Amino acid sequence: MSEVQALQGRHIVLGLSGGVACYKAAELTRLLVKAGATVQVVMTEAAQQFITPVTMQALSGRPVAASQWDAREPNNMAHINLSRQADAILVAPASADFIARLAQGRADELLSLLCLARPIEHCPLLLAPAMNREMWAHPATQRNVAQVAADGARLLGPAAGDQACGEIGDGRMLEAAELCDELIAFFQPKLLAGRRLLVTAGPTFEAIDPVRGITNLSSGKMGFAIARAAAEAGAEVTLVAGPVALATPRGVVRIDVQSAEQMLAAVLPQARRHDVFVATAAVADWRPAQSAAQKIKKDGSGQPPALAFVENPDILASVARLPAAERPWCVGFAAESHDVLAHARQKRVRKGVPLIVANNGPATFGRDDNELVLVDADGEQALPRGDKLTLARQLVIEIARRMAAQGGA
Ligand code: CTP
Repeated sequence: MSEVQALQGRHIVLGLSGGVACYKAAELTRLLVKAGATVQVVMTEAAQQFITPVTMQALSGRPVAASQWDAREPNNMAHINLSRQADAILVAPASADFIARLAQGRADELLSLLCLARPIEHCPLLLAPAMNREMWAHPATQRNVAQVAADGARLLGPAAGDQACGEIGDGRMLEAAELCDELIAFFQPKLLAGRRLLVTAGPTFEAIDPVRGITNLSSGKMGFAIARAAAEAGAEVTLVAGPVALATPRGVVRIDVQSAEQMLAAVLPQARRHDVFVATAAVADWRPAQSAAQKIKKDGSGQPPALAFVENPDILASVARLPAAERPWCVGFAAESHDVLAHARQKRVRKGVPLIVANNGPATFGRDDNELVLVDADGEQALPRGDKLTLARQLVIEIARRMAAQGGA
């Protein structure tokens, strides 16, 4: 099942001012359309030096608006029509010159004109700056950026890195996928604003020797999706991840660990400063009693080495046992292969947590979609089968609802 179209029904005015980063706007348009948005491209004259309106029209499926004197508009008021229809205006790239124009409230070409004419309360303005690092760092640009932010614009980036001019530093425009994710996040309700959420994700790896170990098939996708959904909902998110090769969701602080003991050591000091703890990690239940410092070699006897195991600490239960004043609101996951609900109910009580999210382990590990049942003191609630990000967003809503019902963290 593919991810729901997170921008379905949204109408985005995508403004391009002049800069090499215009090449990224083509991909951005494609991603926004794929996410369900309708995209109206508006280009300054300088932007048309970098990419043609032909490309942008083909990708957006709409003629590009480029002039306030365009007589095709029946009322000849392109700036009013464009800004009244938009759910948001995203200017990407926003050049140093364009930001300077906004800071001054200039209106002598269509894009700055429609930004000025937009109803501030209903039509947010997002800017993705793109320029050379010296231009970005210049006091005039910093002054203009501070002014447009004070006037209500939201800045997305810039990022640091290689620049088209060959220099390295701050001023790169965010990548198209990052800007699309930022826009999706922007539209999510801020149900966890002011809350801090800690999440564990992925498997753990328990070393036998420097080249071997035991682990499991958890991909970490559910935990990463929850971290992303919580960040989208306005939470400050810390993600403690076992060994997985997934990208860190934007705005999330990530701590990488290998073993269950390392995960516990990372989680415990963090738990006290978070309001919610969501344990999605598939923590290995046992670890080798001893981890050999050197690779274990065959000894020629034909006999495998005798491995002894000891039980790992239960991270979720350890957090749930913290004194009430230090304890975050705990959510556990139960990955079962049979009798899912009965085991989940028992697990909730055994671990002493208010909410357990039950799923069928073998049916979900590594997949993009899942089916969840929420088990709490009041009973069970099934979330319809869906992709993990959609489920994560629903789970965030449920967590926020339960926290609000109990009147705080
Ligand atoms: N968990 C944990 N630390 C462990 C084991 C589990 O934090 N050492 C957490 C998981 O992240 C999950 C919940 O406890 O949120 C339940 O994990 P699960 O593997 O389903 O259960 P176990 O406690 O391992 O019990 P069992 O193996 O008997 O099913």
